[in-house]
Order: sequence, then C-alpha cells, then structure tokens
Amino acid sequence: MRYPLSTTGSTLLWDAGAIVTLDQTTLPHRRTVLRLTTVDALIDAIARLAIRGAPALGIAGALGVALSAHQHRTQERIHTDAARLAAARPTAVNLARGVSRALGRLGEGAAAVLAEATAMAVEDVRVNQAASGRAADLLVDMCPRPRLRVLTHCHTGRLATGGWGTALGAVHHLAASDRLELVFVTETRPLLQGARLTAWELRDADIPHRLLVDSAAASALATGMVDCVVVGADRIAANGDVANKIGTYALAAAASHHNVPFVVVAPESTIDEDTPDGAAIAIEQRPESEVTAVAGIDIAGTGTPVFNPAFDITPARLVTAVVTEDRVWRPTPEDPASLAERIGRLCAVVEDFPRPGVRFRDLAGVYGRPAALREAAHALVSSYRGEVDHIVAVEARGFPLGAAVALAADLPLVLVRKSGKLPGPLHSVSYDLEYGQDVLEMQESAIPPGGRALIVDDVLATGGTLAAVTKLVNQCGASVAGFGVLLELAGLGGVHRLHPHRVVTIRTEPS
Ligand code: MRU
Repeated sequence: MRYPLSTTGSTLLWDAGAIVTLDQTTLPHRRTVLRLTTVDALIDAIARLAIRGAPALGIAGALGVALSAHQHRTQERIHTDAARLAAARPTAVNLARGVSRALGRLGEGAAAVLAEATAMAVEDVRVNQAASGRAADLLVDMCPRPRLRVLTHCHTGRLATGGWGTALGAVHHLAASDRLELVFVTETRPLLQGARLTAWELRDADIPHRLLVDSAAASALATGMVDCVVVGADRIAANGDVANKIGTYALAAAASHHNVPFVVVAPESTIDEDTPDGAAIAIEQRPESEVTAVAGIDIAGTGTPVFNPAFDITPARLVTAVVTEDRVWRPTPEDPASLAERIGRLCAVVEDFPRPGVRFRDLAGVYGRPAALREAAHALVSSYRGEVDHIVAVEARGFPLGAAVALAADLPLVLVRKSGKLPGPLHSVSYDLEYGQDVLEMQESAIPPGGRALIVDDVLATGGTLAAVTKLVNQCGASVAGFGVLLELAGLGGVHRLHPHRVVTIRTEPS
C-alpha cells in the first residue's frame, strides 16, 4: 500500500475501510501515520488540524462520507455524519463542497461515494498543477528579475491539497524552470504551518528558502527583498475578497503599499459565488491555548484573554490576481480591460495641434481617471522596484504622472521646468523639441550625487525632451535608471535616442 509518507505522493488514501494520512501536527519532527476508521476520529483530526489546507479538507470531507456510507445502512445516519463533517471547520468552502459532492452519489451506493471521493483526490492534483503552472507564468511575466524572490504564508503545499499544492505548487513550477531565487517562508503563528510544513517541504525539494517571523514580512517587502507574494485561499467570495490564514491581510496591505504583486492561487472550487463578499464569510475562532502557548510551552499564562481567529479577509482591491485552473482573474472592478488598451481609449488624438501637420496626443483623459492613473503609476514603479531613489517629472503633462509615480513608489519627486520658473541655484540645458527649441531647468540640490533617477513623462516622441532631462540629472552627479512614459510614438526614434537607458512604456502606437 502507498502511504503519503513524504512530501510527494497522495495526501489522503483509502485503505480497506480506513482513511490514511500523515498527522500534520507532528511534522517535521515526527512522521505519524493516521489510520482513521470512524467519522468521529476524522472530525477530530480535522478540528485539531492533523488534516488541514482547504483542498485537502475537501477530499477528507468526501472520504468521510464514504467512510460513513461504508459503515452505516441508514441514509439518516450518513446525512447526520455528513452535516457534522461539513461543520467541522467553517471557513474553507472546500470542506462542505467535498461532503456535498460525495453525498450526491449516495443514491448509487457506498462504492459510488468512494469512487467520487477518490476521483476528487486525483482531480485535485491535476487542477492544482494547472492553476499553479498558470500562476508561475503570470509571476514571471509580472516580475522583471530573471529569478524571483517569492514570499508565501502558511502551508499550501502537497499535504494541504491532494498531493501537489496551490501557491507552493507555483513555487515548485518556478524552481523546475530555474526561475526561482528564494522563498521567504512566514512562520505563521500560532500553529506554525509555515515553519513546520512549508520549510519542511522546501527542504525536501532542495528549494532555497528563508524563514521569517510573521512580523518581519512587512520589512522584507519595504526593503525590496521580495518580488511577489503568493498565497492560497480557503474561500474566495464572488467579489474577489479572499479568506485565508490569519496574517494574509497584513501581507496584502504591505505588498500593496510597496507595489509588490499579491497573487492568490486556488482551484475554481474555492470560489464561492454564493458568498457576495468577505463580510459574509464565517471566520473560525480557535482555542486560547494556541496563543498562550508555543509548542506546548505556556508563554502568557493560562486564563489570559485571547483573540485567535484562524483566518482573515483580504479585500479584493489588494489582490493583484486570483489564478485558478481556468483563468487569471483580476477581481478589482476598476480593471476590466488591459492597462494599455485603457490608456489607448483615454488618449485623444488632436489633428493639427499645436501647429498644422502635428497629431497631438492628449492624455488628459488618463489624468481624469484615478484608477487608470494609479495603475499606470504602479506599473512603472514595479518595473523599477529597488533601482531608483528619485522620480523626475517634466513640465507640464509629466507632472501629474510624476506625482502619482512618486506616491506609488514612496520616493521624492523632482520637477523639471522651462526656464525662469524655478528659483536657483539651477542646472540648465537647452534642447530641440518637436516644434522648436527650449531650455529646461532643475534645482541643483534636487538629487544628491550618486542618486538614481526614474524620469517620467506622458508621451515619448523624438526623445529630445527626455534626453535633455538626462543631462540635467547627470549635472547633479546622479545617474538615470531609466524612463517611464504612458505613450510611445513609434517610428520617431525616441527609444533609440535614449539608448542605452531602459524605457518602459505602457502603450506604443504608430506616430
Ligand atoms: O488552518 P489551516 O492550516 O487549515 O489554514 C490553511 C490555509 O489558510 C491555507 O493557506 C489555505 O487552506 C490554502 S491550502 C492550499
């Protein structure tokens, strides 16, 4: 018989009238094989988290119904067992769904119920391999570094699922394609699923990882040590709010603040269309002793009042994407189309302005849409994360974008203006622009020597203006990390003129 005795293989097996699994509470120190022969024993294993993780709970629930059907003749008794199983933990929708799916075959007899439960286990591996593969591709697309530094929370790996993993499945995909540098593993108080299970699984797979206390995660995000946060989910509401292990919301808030993508990987079965939003999700409250003691040692003194929710709700607006076996879902309602398409729709083309023969691109529409401006700013910031310390914006239409980028990056904004507008001392440069000649100025003290600037403007045409700004930055003794523009007019030589600097454009159009 196969046992799920390692980090590979099936998590839950049926063996001659028993459900066989590993006790997740004794790992990594002790490998305890559980042989559960009653529904009561299964409920106890679920309640004390010997079996845990949303997809694994779904399979366990289905196998529990099979166990009851195997042992009892009356429908009433099996339905009672099913109801008790479904209620063993309230937050993960997968548990109640697994129970109800298996129960749906009860009319065909006990063997059909078992067949459904075992089919769920096989399906779970296939589904999560697909979801996590798609998530790995998305992360590679979103993060510019060749190898990613990923932060994950709780344990979403093989034992938390049928045998592959959701968020940790994406980590395995990244490692297999040599796109992974390091996994930051939060310890996940109070029950330490990260420290005990995720670190164990990564060690077993020889994947580089680093354990941190939950409260160190925001600091890692703030200091540019992390390229993306990837977590699983216990229930995803119809509006995209995500219930997951306590601490997930804090991670998402910190990730959003520091423009780090926050991606949720889950099977479609974790999405609950019947639950409109996070407020409607029941959050399991756990015993006080889990907080007052660590690994069985009393820390705070028994009787200390405790707040111990097992899960929290991450609002949809903090979720970059939910990735399932079927789709990449960006639940934020203000993001119905791709950013480049939206910028295109918001850009007006004005013929013969300001002179005959010129096709003026008016991006005022982007500045009129806070969601589009914010998203564009975040896109530019995430392309230069950790590479810049000043944002430089060019008069006049570069200013609103510059302010948005500076706020998104939490970095100082430097203004470049036409001559006579800034008080000195000044650096100054004269330059050719599309329709004549002009002078640009910047305050000498705006960027300290050694600074690294990201220069932003609304439109890149010939590159004359931005090349002049490069000279102003260099006059400060600072360097240019690159450029960020909303719209590049191709064919006018702008990118070539700015070479060898990097240019990130949200949208490119023929001139
Ligand atoms: O209390 P737990 O350990 O069951 O909580 C588990 C989680 O929150 C996981 O992140 C979630 O179930 C996804 S597991 C693939």
